[in-house]
Amino acid sequence: MYLKLIFFLCVNVILVFGHKGNRNIVFPDSFKFGAATSSYQIEGAWNVSGKSESVWDYYAHTFPEWIKDGSNGDIACDSYNQIDVDIANLKLLNVNFYRFSLNWPRILPSARISDLNPDGLRYYNELINKLIDNGIEPMITLYHWELPQSIQDLGGWSNRLVVDYFVHFARVAFEEFGDRVKTWITINEPFSICSMSYEEQFLAPFIHSEGVGTYQCGHNLLLAHAAAYHLYQDEFRARQGGEVGFTMENPWHVPLDPNNPDDIIAAERATNFHFDWFANPIYSKDGDYPPSMRTRIDNYSSLQGYAHSRLPTFTPEEVDYIRGTADFLGLNHYTSHLSTLSENQTPDDNPSYDNDLGVVLTADPAWNQTARDTFTVYPHGLRLLLNYIKETYDNPKVYITENGYAGFQNETLNDQERIWYYQGYLTSVLEAIEIDECNVQSYTAWSFMDNYEWSDGYTLRFGMFYVDFEDPKRKRTPKDSAYVYQNIINRRYL
Ligand code: BGC
Repeated sequence: MYLKLIFFLCVNVILVFGHKGNRNIVFPDSFKFGAATSSYQIEGAWNVSGKSESVWDYYAHTFPEWIKDGSNGDIACDSYNQIDVDIANLKLLNVNFYRFSLNWPRILPSARISDLNPDGLRYYNELINKLIDNGIEPMITLYHWELPQSIQDLGGWSNRLVVDYFVHFARVAFEEFGDRVKTWITINEPFSICSMSYEEQFLAPFIHSEGVGTYQCGHNLLLAHAAAYHLYQDEFRARQGGEVGFTMENPWHVPLDPNNPDDIIAAERATNFHFDWFANPIYSKDGDYPPSMRTRIDNYSSLQGYAHSRLPTFTPEEVDYIRGTADFLGLNHYTSHLSTLSENQTPDDNPSYDNDLGVVLTADPAWNQTARDTFTVYPHGLRLLLNYIKETYDNPKVYITENGYAGFQNETLNDQERIWYYQGYLTSVLEAIEIDECNVQSYTAWSFMDNYEWSDGYTLRFGMFYVDFEDPKRKRTPKDSAYVYQNIINRRYL
């Protein structure tokens, strides 16, 4: 007991001095650093060599008014044509791995497994091979929001058929690339995919199905993830030896007044409805949706006159099928929120996720603002979230798969706020590992370079490399944060 106390005190003292410049505290030898992007946000080449339309191609072209600057990802960072430049820049950062995603309709234009596009395979093979030749591990996200439009025409994530299509796509990816790729993320941010497409009109396919389609989408995403995991487990793991996980995004929810029991309930409920919605079915001992979500949405649905709950039900076999389907927990984290119960704690006539949740989320004025109005800077929130994961899900292996700072469009190469952001959040990661014994094994900076920020278009910059979107070659230049990150990686301390 005393020994443990003395150990904690020592680590604290070291960390405190570490912040002031004493260089004693380091990331464990096995800890890995990476940088991330996603296909639509950087590749461009939207209609070359047999590729078909994704939902993003379709919606950004058809409804440019839904994108803040009316733009699209037709060219984006032109990464499809600039593999060598991107690799040289990753080498400059000295990252251990590069997280990127596969553009589904570039590989399977008709969504049918028999219809493989040779150019799609060529492009990703070249990228993977060159990364490996340069000592950078590829980490692949299968789905970072580029659903083939032909599947969206069938109802997309709200049609259960999507599960089969996704598994076909996963099979192609494992078969074609799995001899060299050892870390797979099936799906990036289920919460964003469903809530921002079906409730908030922020992501394609921009559908209004508040409180209904949202949960159907989440349900099918969980089934699709589990099916892809089982496929890998049954047919690929023995010969390829890789790992498969799921990436969820979560802000940390702080009670508005930590002494007010209602605010504590609000923060817990917000975490249940956001993170645990997807984490509980996969990572908990019992599986299935969090009980608080189940009870509240069942109850509201019945009061609203629905014959069935708007939150679909898994059969006991499905609960078992989904539970435990991850070799690691992928975590994206950007910000924290203050939580308090909303005034209305009864069901509205028109259902919605917000009404089901019944919590108002705000930001603490003491937290620094970023260029995205909903993102403020509270690094300690990440440490608290990592501890929540440790306590709630039995300390799973965590890969931080995104964390980053939103800068304005007129940001310059001197991106001091991003440097502070990374230093603050990496300090929290270090504290979570060294003091709290959270099992965090890697960190990924979002983003490698400025890119297409979904319906914010090119109005925000998240990159460590500045991209000149006026230049036909999309010239990239390292910002100050690139050198700071490089130093952290080289020295393994902050
Ligand atoms: C997404 C990225 C996005 C980033 C910043 C994450 O939710 O995975 O694609 O660019 O947030 O908004």
